[in-house]
Amino acid sequence: MPSTKYPSFLFLLFLTAPLFASAARCDKADKSALLAIKTAFNNPPDLSSWTSKTSCCTWNGIDCNATTGRVTSLTIFALNISAPIPSAISKLTALQSLNLAYNRLNGPIPPFIGLLPELTFLRLDGNLLTGTIPSTLTILDLSLVGNRLTGSLPPSFAKANFADVDLRDNQLTGDASFLFGRDKNLNALHLSNNSFKFDLTNADKC
Ligand SMILES: *[C@@H]1O[C@H](CO)[C@@H](O)[C@H](O)[C@H]1NC(C)=O
Ligand SMILES: *[C@@H]1O[C@H](CO)[C@@H](O)[C@H](O)[C@H]1NC(C)=O
Ligand SMILES: *[C@@H]1O[C@H](CO)[C@@H](O)[C@H](O)[C@H]1NC(C)=O
Repeated sequence: MPSTKYPSFLFLLFLTAPLFASAARCDKADKSALLAIKTAFNNPPDLSSWTSKTSCCTWNGIDCNATTGRVTSLTIFALNISAPIPSAISKLTALQSLNLAYNRLNGPIPPFIGLLPELTFLRLDGNLLTGTIPSTLTILDLSLVGNRLTGSLPPSFAKANFADVDLRDNQLTGDASFLFGRDKNLNALHLSNNSFKFDLTNADKC
């Protein structure tokens, strides 16, 4: 009897549609920012799933908060992308994790990365980044291994709450001893293959 099937079909639609919508929900502004990042990276073939027709939460390398649809994690790993770090990343203000390791990213690390309020995990290792480390970059888990970073560490690092910091294989200089100390929560610190000059006068206090 079609008259009884019709309502039950409607009921099913009503039940499943909101579930589907929340799984696929994607913040509009975050989606625009991601599409701008894709353009700034010259539309790499590996990001072909990133199209305006689909929810950004289903794209390769993206995780979202299911409630808000905000992008919480962005991974563009080992795609040999040759470009500066795009300014559109500054719009992804719910990012907790950003991994752009093993590309050919060049130019400086923009200070806005360290100002993303939720960011606790940053990997920029294995790129061609130059310049000094911005003072904002006091991120809990931080890897900058194997770039061309120069200059001394920002004084802000002395007060930072770090867990894992990896700065190996750069051209960093100056005194890094302020990263050590018994008041630190550091889990791991890697500094080798730089040109640091250490003052470990107070190392016995560690
Ligand atoms: C998603 O965002 C909401 C609102 O900001 C927050 O309360 C919730 O903890 C987030 N969920 C996860 C899994 O982080
Ligand atoms: C990576 O890109 C550079 C140019 O930017 C190119 O010379 C090199 O062959 C590429 N490597 C791979 C593995 O595609
Ligand atoms: C030191 O770091 C540079 C990159 O900055 C790298 O090319 C070189 O292989 C590293 N040397 C050692 C001994 O790991």
